[in-house]
Amino acid sequence: MKTNVRAAILSVVAVGCLTNICQGQRQVANPRVQMQEALPEKGAMLIGVDYYPEHWPRDRWETDARLMKEAGFNVVRLAEFSWINMEPEEGRFEFGWLDEAVTLLGRHGIRVILGTPTAVMPAWVARKYPETLRQQPDATRIVWGGRKHNCFTSGAYRLLSERITRAMAEHFASSPHVIGWQTDNEFGGGECHCDTCLAEFQDWLRRKYGTLDGLNRAWGNHFWGLTFTTWGEITFPDNRTGEMWAMGNPSACLDFKRFTSWLRVRFQADQVRILRAICPDDFVTHNFMGLFSDLDYYDLAEDLDFVTWDNYPIWFDEPDIPYSASLAADVMRGLKSKNFMIMEQTAGPCGWGSFGRNPWPGEIRKIAYQQLAHGSDGQIWFRWRTCTVGREQYWHGLLGHDGRPLRRYDEAAQTAREFRKLEDRLRGTTVVSDVAILYDYDNLWSLGFQPGYEGNSLQAAILRYYNALSRVGVNADLVNRQADLAKYKLVLAPDLNVMPDETARKLVSYVEKGGVLLADCRTGIKDCNNLCHERTLPGLLSPALGIRIEEYSALGSNVRYAVKGEAGLDGSYNAIRYTDWVVPEGAETLARYSEQWHMKPFAAVTRNRLGKGQGWYVGTVIEQESFYDALIAQLLKGADIRPVVDPPNGVETSIRQGQGKKLLFVMNHTDQPATVNVPEGKVELLSGGRTDRTLRLDRFGVAVIALEQ
Ligand code: GLA
Ligand code: ZN
Repeated sequence: MKTNVRAAILSVVAVGCLTNICQGQRQVANPRVQMQEALPEKGAMLIGVDYYPEHWPRDRWETDARLMKEAGFNVVRLAEFSWINMEPEEGRFEFGWLDEAVTLLGRHGIRVILGTPTAVMPAWVARKYPETLRQQPDATRIVWGGRKHNCFTSGAYRLLSERITRAMAEHFASSPHVIGWQTDNEFGGGECHCDTCLAEFQDWLRRKYGTLDGLNRAWGNHFWGLTFTTWGEITFPDNRTGEMWAMGNPSACLDFKRFTSWLRVRFQADQVRILRAICPDDFVTHNFMGLFSDLDYYDLAEDLDFVTWDNYPIWFDEPDIPYSASLAADVMRGLKSKNFMIMEQTAGPCGWGSFGRNPWPGEIRKIAYQQLAHGSDGQIWFRWRTCTVGREQYWHGLLGHDGRPLRRYDEAAQTAREFRKLEDRLRGTTVVSDVAILYDYDNLWSLGFQPGYEGNSLQAAILRYYNALSRVGVNADLVNRQADLAKYKLVLAPDLNVMPDETARKLVSYVEKGGVLLADCRTGIKDCNNLCHERTLPGLLSPALGIRIEEYSALGSNVRYAVKGEAGLDGSYNAIRYTDWVVPEGAETLARYSEQWHMKPFAAVTRNRLGKGQGWYVGTVIEQESFYDALIAQLLKGADIRPVVDPPNGVETSIRQGQGKKLLFVMNHTDQPATVNVPEGKVELLSGGRTDRTLRLDRFGVAVIALEQ
């Protein structure tokens, strides 16, 4: 049975670098694996490209496969937009072209991840079933002709999606080359305002609240007399005018986000069920988008074997220090608390109309290492060859339009070779952190509707602390509020505006037991219905923080309040954007307002002791990065966390460990050489040499140091 061969392939993958992400589900050893000369080597990490054979003449495929093989690639993702090619008319399936591509690639030792193609509906779907097209707020249907057109409640679309998924799964169940599946493509996108979506929204609310009274209370519908008297009166909480005041009730908005997120999770679950039933040995994943926040990624990840994500970190004309790509990686790792894989990685200049900067020599490799260092166990570049047709003519691949393997190809091939060399060392390792940062979608959404003060967002708040941690070379886990915090020495909960009572109690008990907690402005304002708590802030967190917040104020964009820090935070800083008027009640003041008379009675930064732990509070946004560096240094000291190295500006470090191994990644994000102080006498795995006390990195240079073997 071919399925046995597939199980064997997966066991090979599972004991390899994907150990973390497949977590031993497929440990069946199968001697037939030895017979498959085309198989990736035992334990091979998946490295390859997103490939679109349907865009190129058949007689080019052989060349492509050969070049991929020569680059050391062993995987491609195929077919995620090719519904029309697989089902040219309803119910008639044509997989011949794809069989041919899969077999040809297989002959070159290249495995296949297949995408279910539901992100682009064929024209016949729109023609025959116009209700599958998303309805816009003005009641018109979106015009077919791009991608992500569909309504997620359309019965027809759900059935068509199940049918193509089943047909693909049945057809490829016996292929020894197909090893896994990607559901759809980058779930997200527009909301649909059709009648079925509305009816489903009303049903969803009925299931959630049981009674209309319950719903009216949860949403605070006595405000503006918005009380519903029948379920059918419920409408979409829209923002049709774009004006904040005209936007629906924030509680309704939050539930609507949860509902639209749930629709996508349900749509995916329908596909996952089919794939698991027909191809039980294949992995099933989806390509997430890092910090994208339109849907609850924790929920979307739940049904999957592991997370993959699409990373495009070149946004500026000059190389910057892309800590946000590391943050995104940490968010991705946090979704299932396991390693992830890159499904699309920047390969060249990106853009649909105009395009951005070409990665400079060394950057393609460095971008891949940054993800590896944060827990990526597989590396796929988007895309293989730059397309000559269509909307993505300027979204460049490893090869240009001319199809020649040049610099970008060489750099990817070099990266592939190096990753292969590291495979054994990486096996069973992941990022292990003493620091947790709370990250959840209720907060991303709630602050999206009402940031409170201008420019506020959960990600911006997190980055203030995350960047400071990165500058000092300390890893963090991004976790949701259900996570077990006991294993962390330091928990950062900035801007956690939605804070149900159980979360507040959990944080207080975390501090009591010896944890170090940091909260900051707008933490703990609301309950999970997005209603403001009635308590004086910081509400149930008061015992941990030892403060009372009397009042608060937003600050205009030109306003700066002088702040003086002491006790390790020494220095003069500016408070911007927002201030809590913090009255210490047991906490010590570590920074105070020094000039504005009306702020002098209040603290800017406080530290409280409760039980064996500490509760820190920052009641403002500080303009200077140096403040956050000093603060993080104090927090790390309080939590007894010692950074392994002290990287210079522009150099990032990250540690992967496990199974007695400990690997220090050192990455130079700048185009200037850098010198880093590192532990002496350790093996640098890429060169094979031993480290001196200092390590010199070339521009965009990378080193991987085995701290423990
Ligand atoms: C996303 C998609 C790809 C492609 C790239 C580049 O990540 O998943 O299909 O469109 O962007 O545009
Ligand atoms: Zn709809």
